Amino acid sequence: AQREYANVLVSRPSPGVALITLNRPKALNALNAVHFQDISEAMKEADEDVSVGAIILTGSERAFAAGADIKEMKDKSCEYLSLVIEYFRIKFPEVAEAYTTNFLADWEVITQLKKPVIAAVSGYALGGGLELALQADILLAAPSAQLGQPEVNLGVIPGGGGTQRLARLVGKSRAMELVLTGRIIGADEAERWGIVRVVREGSVVDEAVKVASDIASKGRIAVGAGKEAVNAAFEMSLAEGLRFERRLFHALFSTKDQKEGMAAFSEKRRAEWTHS
Ligand code: HXC
Repeated sequence: AQREYANVLVSRPSPGVALITLNRPKALNALNAVHFQDISEAMKEADEDVSVGAIILTGSERAFAAGADIKEMKDKSCEYLSLVIEYFRIKFPEVAEAYTTNFLADWEVITQLKKPVIAAVSGYALGGGLELALQADILLAAPSAQLGQPEVNLGVIPGGGGTQRLARLVGKSRAMELVLTGRIIGADEAERWGIVRVVREGSVVDEAVKVASDIASKGRIAVGAGKEAVNAAFEMSLAEGLRFERRLFHALFSTKDQKEGMAAFSEKRRAEWTHS
């Protein structure tokens, strides 16, 4: 049975597609510790479900997520590490304990999933909200999307990968401008910068369901390998990445899905994937 979460709705809009909707409308989906725990558990649950081929993460019309919950953070110690520790309500007396228990690993949960994640962004995706979206594999946005890293206005900086992922994605000058001025950009500018694809006709969630259904109709092993290989491009040198890609490519020739996919092409029929 599907688990229920207080701050997250989970549904199956189409076979093989899990839709996870952030649902803390009163605070524009601001991410407090409990909310964030729900998100990561729902994402992990979908990732482990064999019937799921792709996962969509979305918010409301007004906000994907307005960032980490400022009201929860505001009275915390100004020391950065303890601020983030408090944010996750994980209290570590010592650095050693934080290290051994893999502190903050949960924040990166999306990047560790095997299945592709599509973020469908409407309205505000600010601070931790944008950082959450930037962890997805594919970003779709409604024309209403407003993206930014306004942490500088609060006397802090992005703490969930914003400076690193944005800089890799949009380059130094644009990342600096967002991080140092807190300027919020609209959907068109975000698309010109290569952050999102804007869905101009119909709903962004419907389009995400289409893309996710398409992905879910493929062989899971090839999809998983493709995701892993593209992600390697952000971690490895070109030579290492090319070697990694080649090894995965070779390995896929030992799968039934490779035999089936190529046989189906030759026989001019649809492939019946067994994900094996
Ligand atoms: C807590 C928030 C919130 C947030 C909005 N709300 N954002 N509560 N944390 N991040 C609450 C408001 O207090 C308000 O509650 C309700 O949601 C509606 O918001 P309004 O401000 O009334 O709406 P509007 O005037 O339309 O303005 C929308 C907004 C603005 C531009 C998005 O709310 C805003 O600037 N929010 C903060 C954005 C931000 O700075 N994010 C970065 C956070 S730091 P009440 O009860 O008053 O009605 C961060 C660090 C990440 O994310 C670190 C990761 C490890």
